[in-house]
Amino acid sequence: MAKSESITKEILDHYYEGMKRNHLGPLWFDLGHMVTKEPVHDVEPYLWKWSTIREYALKAGELVEPGKDAERRVVYLQNPSLLKRGLIGYGTHTLYAGIQLLLPGEYAPSHHHSQSAIRFIIEGDDKAYTAVNGEKIYMERGDVVLTPAWTWHEHKHEGTEPVFWLDGLDVGLVRTMAASFFEQYEKEFYPMEAPENYSSQQFSMGVFKKLNEAPAPDEPSPIFGYKYQRAHYLLDQMTEADYDPFDGYALEYINPKTNGSADARIGTMIQKLKSGQQTKAHRHVHSAIYHIIEGTGYTIIDGQKFEWETGDFFILPPWSHHEHVNTGSCDAILFSFNDKPVMEKLQLEFSESYEQNDGHQVIEKVFVPNQTV
Ligand SMILES: [Fe+2]
Ligand SMILES: [Fe+2]
Repeated sequence: MAKSESITKEILDHYYEGMKRNHLGPLWFDLGHMVTKEPVHDVEPYLWKWSTIREYALKAGELVEPGKDAERRVVYLQNPSLLKRGLIGYGTHTLYAGIQLLLPGEYAPSHHHSQSAIRFIIEGDDKAYTAVNGEKIYMERGDVVLTPAWTWHEHKHEGTEPVFWLDGLDVGLVRTMAASFFEQYEKEFYPMEAPENYSSQQFSMGVFKKLNEAPAPDEPSPIFGYKYQRAHYLLDQMTEADYDPFDGYALEYINPKTNGSADARIGTMIQKLKSGQQTKAHRHVHSAIYHIIEGTGYTIIDGQKFEWETGDFFILPPWSHHEHVNTGSCDAILFSFNDKPVMEKLQLEFSESYEQNDGHQVIEKVFVPNQTV
């Protein structure tokens, strides 16, 4: 970097040391660290077995009582690669996933926060509800329930069997933006102001869109509950013309007023692969957390094979090649949530297909899940 022979090493060392003492830096050395040619991140893929998660969540049912010992009884998925960075509760750099358990007769009091949240019901029989801004949304297996940022929400169980659901929040995103606010409601329960399941009854049609339909500008969704039965029916109606090479038969949950993502910041998707189907690999800036609703198969992420079965969860990091395979004899159905709406709004979303080897990666290693309970 020296301009002439008269600039000695001694002069340069003195200059750079002085810079450092004054908390300044030379961009001519460090530009490549800041403006990288491709996304750089610390998120590694990972997979949790449902049998392990369920056991720890169920044990929490004996040890911790919501509303007394805990605001919520939730076992969260900690990505080990992000814990190394001190990031507690991170699944990806933007997304959090927790498994909440509510036992018969229990409730979790009303609160709200600046994080958006989506829920996916893993085990439930329509006897437990989430109330959002005073509207009870009864939750059955496979349903999706939104509690958009700042909406008051509480949970209550009026049935007889334990209810498990996934809580998906944009914890990392909000933390990065230094925008986290949380407040408990002044009483345990928010007043019930709307008829039960009002929003989903009012908008029972048109709550999904195909991947190739254009997004629309933001407005909050008038719907809080999206029924699994409806999603399943629509997946079964899809034809070969609807098959997406990277996601199979896939639907995104939408806000019916805008045709955009159901939650303004957290994207939600359900996809089906028929027996033996294998998608092609691609990668994109947005990251995702996947939950296997039913089926058996595997996903290859940057050459690593992640074998999954019903109930399992796995992390899809940003900008990582991935393809899905259904190895079972029945349909495989996957739910996932992602940070795509945010990336799109910030004009940061970009994707590309994997061009080598006819769009398929070579498996270089196989992930071994931790199953020690
Ligand atoms: Fe909450
Ligand atoms: Fe993808």
